[in-house]
This record gives sequence, C-alpha cells and structure tokens, in this order.
Amino acid sequence: MADKAKIAILLSGRGSNMAAMVYAAKLPDCPFEIVLVASNDLKAPGLKLAEAESIATFAHSHKGLTREAHDIIMHDAIVRSGAEYVVLAGYMRILSDGFVRKWADHMLNIHPSLLPKYKGLDTYQRAIDAGDDVAGCSVHLVTPELDDGPILAQTEVAILPDDDADSLASRILIAEHQLYPSTLAKYVTREADPDWILGQVRQRALALAETHERPSFGAPGWRVGSKTTGKYFAYLAQSHHGEASIALLVKTTGLDEQAALIDADPDLYYIPKFYGKSGWIAIRLDTGRTDWDHISDRLYASWRQVAPKRLTKMIAIADQF
Ligand code: GRF
Repeated sequence: MADKAKIAILLSGRGSNMAAMVYAAKLPDCPFEIVLVASNDLKAPGLKLAEAESIATFAHSHKGLTREAHDIIMHDAIVRSGAEYVVLAGYMRILSDGFVRKWADHMLNIHPSLLPKYKGLDTYQRAIDAGDDVAGCSVHLVTPELDDGPILAQTEVAILPDDDADSLASRILIAEHQLYPSTLAKYVTREADPDWILGQVRQRALALAETHERPSFGAPGWRVGSKTTGKYFAYLAQSHHGEASIALLVKTTGLDEQAALIDADPDLYYIPKFYGKSGWIAIRLDTGRTDWDHISDRLYASWRQVAPKRLTKMIAIADQF
C-alpha cells in the first residue's frame, strides 16, 4: 500500500471519536495513521488515552490568548508532527479564518445531526422537539462558516418514541464511530478513486466553451461544438488489465510535441494505442501526484486544436498582443 496519510486529531473532551480513529488505524489495511492528538484543554481525557496508545500528544490552553495566536500555536504543532490532515473530534473551539484557510480541503469535522439541519449545539433535543423520525451524524469538510462545509458522508439514526437527548446522543455516537474512520479512509484515498478522478476531469472539460460529454466505446469522452458535428478533445481511458491504470487522452499540436512530452516525463506521459499516430498523448492520472492545473492546461490546449474557428478566432487574436 502507498504511504499512509498522516492525521492530527484535535479534541477538547473525552475523545471517543479519537479512540475510534486510533483503533481503525490499527487495522492492517487502514490508509491513515494518527501522528498527533492535540488539545486546547490540558486535562482533556482524550489526551491520556492517546498517550497510553503511544501517540504523540500536544496541549496548549487557549486562555489569555487571542483566537489567532492560539490557532498559530496549534498549527505549528500540527505541522511539526508531519500531519497532512486535521481531524476535529469534539474540538470545542471556533477556528480562525486563517487556520481554516491553511487546512482547506484537508480538515474534517463530525457533527451530530443530519446537516444542514441543526448546526451548532443541542442537536439531539432540537431533532426530538421538531418531531423528526430520524436524526444522525455528518462528516464534512471544514470551511470558515460553522458546520457548513461540503458534506462527505452521513448516517441516519432512528429516533425512538421514548428517546431523550441522552439516549439519542449515545446511539448517534455509535454511528459516529463507524462513520468517521470510514469516511476519512475514503477521503484520503480519493485521488485513487476512479469516480473522483472522472469527476475532476469532467468538471474541467465541461468548463470549456461549448463542450458536452459523450462516451466513446464505453470510455467517457468530451467534445466541443454542436451535439451533431462536435469533435472529441479528451477521453478518459481506463484499463483493468493487471494493475488498474487510468489516463487522460488529449490532443497535442503534433508528433513533435508528443515526443517532447514523453521525453520530458516518461513516467507521466505515454503514447496511447490507436490515437497515438494522430498526435494524441496519454497523461497518467493514477500517480497520486496529479497536478490538476496542468490537466486543465492540457484540456484547454486540446480543446483549441479541435474547437470551431469561431471559438478560437478571438483567442488567436488576443494571443498576438
Ligand atoms: C461528538 O458528539 C461529535 O459529534 C461532536 O463532539 C462530540 C465529541 O465526542 N463534534 P467525543 O469527544 O469524540 O467522545
């Protein structure tokens, strides 16, 4: 398996979600490892458990510090630990925008409601009072707005007729302990997930002018121009022979550029079957180090090769200046 993703967990309390993460990380196929458990509360019970499990801990009280100053101390400790992701597990601090920005797309939180319902506190009682049949929990990416980032996964938990906030909370917690580690595992391996890769390519291909998607011999493909006369400028090639591999096929300006690209990075580029002769190039998307800006550039360059003149004319004029 590739290197495991390094995780820092922030908590303020008992740390049962942290424990669920720690035990999930002990399973042989788990794609992440916990490199730090940090807290704003020196007495947080979760710290003791982490120490007992031989995980590095860090604690620094927020008292007497501005939010920004405390966040910088936490951030520095996380960076020193080598963590690539931050997992919030009952961290009872509102985070400064600066901290959230530094960990954008690399920080997850778990919230005990079916977001976007019941952000903030008291989620269980609010769900019961509203007469809901189900409550639950959500794992989401952290953005500056509280409990508001993109939802990665949710579990529904039935509300029983005689539930009170405590009984419901303890059942939701069981669901949390299942949901959080599995969602984190999926998230840190997303770049190897063919569906995620397809989504990334699709979003970039369809962002170009007058494009649409049309499969070709079972492979996703993107065309520019009208639905009837449009021309392909990209395909997603997936081969299932032996080692699964996934690559983007785009047009170059010709065989010279095709050769130059392969010369420059033979691990990234290769000549695709069938299309190679007409100057197409394959760019591997399964290396785990895909530069998505580069993919956008190559899609655009390919689009320009086949787009109708009326679309490229203005660009050609602009390029002269
Ligand atoms: C959980 O209810 C979680 O949903 C919320 O904070 C609580 C943390 O509990 N974000 P624990 O410290 O993980 O036991």
